[in-house]
Amino acid sequence: MAILGIDIGGSGVKGAPVDTANGELLAERFRVPTPQPSDVSSVVKAVAQVAATFDGYDRVGVTFPGVVIDGVTKTAANVDKSWLDAPAAQLFTERLGKPVSVLNDAVAAGVAEIAFGNHDQRGLVMMLTFGTGIGSALFLDGTLIPNTEFGHVELDGKDAELRASDRAREEHDLSWEKWAGRVQDYLRHVEMLLSPRLFIIGGGVSKKAEKWVPLLDVKTPITVATLLNNAGIIGAAVTAEQAHGHPGAIQVDAAAQGS
Ligand code: BGC
Repeated sequence: MAILGIDIGGSGVKGAPVDTANGELLAERFRVPTPQPSDVSSVVKAVAQVAATFDGYDRVGVTFPGVVIDGVTKTAANVDKSWLDAPAAQLFTERLGKPVSVLNDAVAAGVAEIAFGNHDQRGLVMMLTFGTGIGSALFLDGTLIPNTEFGHVELDGKDAELRASDRAREEHDLSWEKWAGRVQDYLRHVEMLLSPRLFIIGGGVSKKAEKWVPLLDVKTPITVATLLNNAGIIGAAVTAEQAHGHPGAIQVDAAAQGS
């Protein structure tokens, strides 16, 4: 089934139709810059612009960089505060004229990696995305434990994502070595809390994994996301398919098992 996946990121809103049986994009992705300020009505417009470039789909999945519960966006760390308690699924559904499911961006990326990324799924697996913020998605034997926000644990007295996100690397002009040191401290902290069996590292900067992942010295095995930039789009589409006509009703556990 062709479903449109749209990923709202810190710098771009990207989308493409996805074959949810195999996780492949059915057309080249289309991207528009994320509006600044990223308030609700500007972002809804940007999502509509991306959606309008495609046809032949009947459902849509949209990622959001914050907590989403029943289609309502609950936090807005890196987007305009107008998203706090916004009925996002309803707004997108009205604007696009098709059923839209909304889910957290890291959850979408994790769902896609677990379904199609060929990673070992046994035990506790933690997907972490390094971008504008740090996103997290936790899976137990392939089943999602929703709404973890491990990018916001405290590290050196600060919100971890302010120290170890890719944006922190860019803003403070950190060398790969210096930044990898911060990421390592972060991962050690998280593994102390959770003892996962595997970290899957994603986000835009995972494209340059060879520059920094080998520098990380942690106990937990690390694997790099295989779907890279498209994981959010694919996970959003897979999740929308699972929602079966109930915008906002997300059954990601089934999606996570690739069923
Ligand atoms: C948000 C998360 C999001 C992550 C990556 C964090 O600031 O709180 O919900 O997944 O950024 O975008």
